[in-house]
Amino acid sequence: MAYTIEINELRKNYAGAIAPALNGFSCHVEQNLIVGLLGPNGAGKTTCFNILCGMVKPDTGKALIAGRNCTTERVVIGSIMGMVPQQIALFGNLTAMENFRYIGRLYGLSDSTITSRTGQLLERLGLDKHADKRINAYSGGMKRRANIIASLLHEPELLLLDEPTAGVDVQSRAMILDFLKDYKAQGKTILYTSHLMDEAEQICDEVIIIDNGKFITSGPPAKLISETENCTRLEDVFLHFTGRSLRD
Ligand SMILES: Nc1ncnc2c1ncn2[C@@H]1O[C@H](COP(=O)(O)OP(=O)(O)OP(=O)(O)O)[C@@H](O)[C@H]1O
Ligand SMILES: [Mg+2]
Repeated sequence: MAYTIEINELRKNYAGAIAPALNGFSCHVEQNLIVGLLGPNGAGKTTCFNILCGMVKPDTGKALIAGRNCTTERVVIGSIMGMVPQQIALFGNLTAMENFRYIGRLYGLSDSTITSRTGQLLERLGLDKHADKRINAYSGGMKRRANIIASLLHEPELLLLDEPTAGVDVQSRAMILDFLKDYKAQGKTILYTSHLMDEAEQICDEVIIIDNGKFITSGPPAKLISETENCTRLEDVFLHFTGRSLRD
C-alpha cells in the first residue's frame, strides 16, 4: 500500500468568516518524504490538517490518505496516521506516562505494548528521566517532545505535525528534527508545518506553499530556489510568492 496524501479542491468556509479558510486547495504528498506545508498565518494549514485527520469536514472537495477518504473513513485513517496538533494536547495535571497510558489504551494497545513503545520513544526524545513528572512541570520544549510521543504510540505510517518546533530552544529543535529524519528513514511519510524557512529548507524533501487557502507552488527547496528569480534561500522564495503584507 502506498501511504500518499491526495488533496483535491478542498473548500472550507467557517461560519461567520469573511473569507474561506481553504479555497480550492489541492496538493499531493508522495510516500517516504518529509514535506513542509508552508504558508503565512491564516493560510489554511491547520484547517487542512484538521480535514486530513477527520476533525473538520470540508464544504466540498476530497482528502485521501492511502486512497481512503479522510472524512468518511476516520477509523482507518486514525490507524495509519498520527497527528501532532499545534496546541499541546496533553493533560497538564497528569504525568507524561499517565497521558501515554491513557492515549495508548484509546488506541487499543496492551499495557505491555504501551510500556515498551513509550520506553523507546521517551529515551529517543530525551524524556526518559521525566516520564513521571506532571506535564505542567515540563518546559516548552519538553511539552513539544511529549506531544510528539503521544501521536506515535500506534506506530503510524504517516505523521502530521503542526508547528512541532514552535517556541522550542535550539537543542529541542535539533532533537525533534533528527527524530523526524530517523522516522523517515524507517520508510514513514511526514507532513509538517513551520514558519521557520531555514528549518524547512534544511529538513524537507519537498515543500508546498499555500496562501489564502490556495495552492501556490511546490517542489524540492533547492529546485524552487534555483528556479525563482533572485532567490538564494527558501525564505526568498516564500516572500516572492506570498509577498510582504501582513495577514492581520
Ligand atoms: N474554528 C474556526 N472558526 C472560524 N474561523 C476559523 C476557525 N479556524 C480557523 N479559522 C480561520 O480560517 C483561516 C485559516 O486558519 P488556519 O488555522 O487553518 O491557518 P494556519 O495556516 O494554520 O495559520 P497559523 O500559521 O496562524 O497557524 C484563518 O483566517 C482563521 O482565522
Ligand atoms: Mg495553524
